[in-house]
Amino acid sequence: MSDNPTENRLVWENEEKKLDERVAEALWPGGQKAIDRLAGQNKRPIRELIQELIDPGAEFYELSRIAGFGVNYPNVEDVPCGGVATGIGKIHGNWTMIFANDSRVKAGTYFPITLKKHMRAQAIARQCGLNCVYIADSGGAFLPMQADVFPDDQHFGSMFYNMAQMSAMGLKQITLSTGGNTAGGAYIVFMACQSVMIDKLAYSFLGGPPLVKMATGEVITAEDLGGARVHTRISGGADHFCKDQAEAIVKVREILCLDKPQTVHSHRYQEAPPLTAPETVYEIMPAAVNQGINAVRFLECISDDSYFIEYKKDYAPGRGDNIVAGKIRIKGIPVGVIASNAVGIIFAEAARKATEWIVRCSQEKTPLLFVQNSPGYMVGSESEHMGIGKYGADMVRAVSCAQVPRIQLVIGPDHGAANYGMCGRAYRPHFLFSTMRARTSVMSGRSAAGVLMSIEEAKRKAMNNPMAEEEKEAFRQKMIEKYDGEAHPFYCGARLLTDRVLKFSEIRDWLGMAFEVSLLKPIGEPAFGNFRF
Ligand code: COA
Repeated sequence: MSDNPTENRLVWENEEKKLDERVAEALWPGGQKAIDRLAGQNKRPIRELIQELIDPGAEFYELSRIAGFGVNYPNVEDVPCGGVATGIGKIHGNWTMIFANDSRVKAGTYFPITLKKHMRAQAIARQCGLNCVYIADSGGAFLPMQADVFPDDQHFGSMFYNMAQMSAMGLKQITLSTGGNTAGGAYIVFMACQSVMIDKLAYSFLGGPPLVKMATGEVITAEDLGGARVHTRISGGADHFCKDQAEAIVKVREILCLDKPQTVHSHRYQEAPPLTAPETVYEIMPAAVNQGINAVRFLECISDDSYFIEYKKDYAPGRGDNIVAGKIRIKGIPVGVIASNAVGIIFAEAARKATEWIVRCSQEKTPLLFVQNSPGYMVGSESEHMGIGKYGADMVRAVSCAQVPRIQLVIGPDHGAANYGMCGRAYRPHFLFSTMRARTSVMSGRSAAGVLMSIEEAKRKAMNNPMAEEEKEAFRQKMIEKYDGEAHPFYCGARLLTDRVLKFSEIRDWLGMAFEVSLLKPIGEPAFGNFRF
């Protein structure tokens, strides 16, 4: 652990300021001009609508706000916030997934990243059993990229497939249409369990007026073709006619007002704050990302009463303690923890301990938190002969099969197979959060540069053209920049490899929400495959 708490704090506070700046760009695309344009259309910014939709004073837990930056699509470098806001808030006391197209971003059209974000929010809703409200205002597919957003699984059609499936599971799908919903986009209105349309603001049709004129010669206005009046009075494709956005919000709340209250499937203790001061977490996180951490101290900063009950504390010192396992309470909810410790390299003993603990928690139906700060599993002949491959695989198997809610929080290096064993994205954690200290990539920039350099050197030697020292240095620097750049939370957040980059001060609150939401569905029985003990 760094012995300079002040330096650590300043570094992470500064990094989080950069996060604030990036988020501000995401939330206010087009600045005041775009808001004035919305006002001219009788529309308010989407987050104002969302705040009115959720219960008074309730928090909107917005997901993946920095999605879409630097995605470099044809003629479009950034898609702020991915073009759609998604997040979780309470409506009449029930956690609900909310989606809102941001018409300030290319008319709310769907880019690949927009779809990915929409699908991720639907996946969370489905996994956790949440009703969904869609505030729809979209020009549909972003046409220059139709081949990348239209025909495949997880493309445009999957949004409606998901709506149908969730509706069949009893999860309400409610659409509030407050703008254009053309062609495929019209299904967001017609597939809903109930949909609300706004007079002279919302339109829904399979082909807009220009297409109709071209196809049939009919000349018709958007209002007469598929406005709120048409669909609530003639076609029956929508259910509620409202005069403006404010009335539409009230209507959606009314539709959901008699829903069954949700139950959290866990026993719960009285919530108690950590005993540590709020700034402690900033002070104990080393400024250098590759410097080891003290996992127990970190857990004390996020757990109720700063209380951590450790499992197998004394097992295999120096090898078994690169992971700590145990239990904490977060906002009164008991949670099993697997946390990287020190530099976080996973030895066979640590992998075995983690596997045991995952299985124990599964048997007890205790949800799991994976705190990831690991550069990978231990390499070398000693480790291979000890069975790091098979014990690492057992850990991956346990993570994959554990039926309890699993949440990953990345607070440092997140490389190689440790990403798998510590419940990375491919292992479908209920939620995946990171921080500005997270670095997610196959290996660190330094390691990647070394590996690639040895390949390049061998190639050049074989060609009788060995690399000069300055060439080597330039190559090394280029690789470090590329790999470290791609591991950065801005890069990963832009591509939705995290559900939210959290500030250290937000972790506890978000974990409290995420475990509560993840426990809304009853936990099934444990079933693991074949371990290799
Ligand atoms: N694909 C790509 N770009 C689109 C688009 C689409 N489907 N729909 C709108 N845009 C772009 C516009 O070209 C414009 O880009 P610019 O800011 O670079 O000039 C931007 O989005 C805003 O569009 P604009 O028409 O000015 O917004 P609006 O609020 O006045 O109208 C719509 C919104 C959705 C009613 C209107 O844009 C529209 O009808 N779009 C086409 C919808 C369609 O036919 N979709 C079929 C695809 S499934």
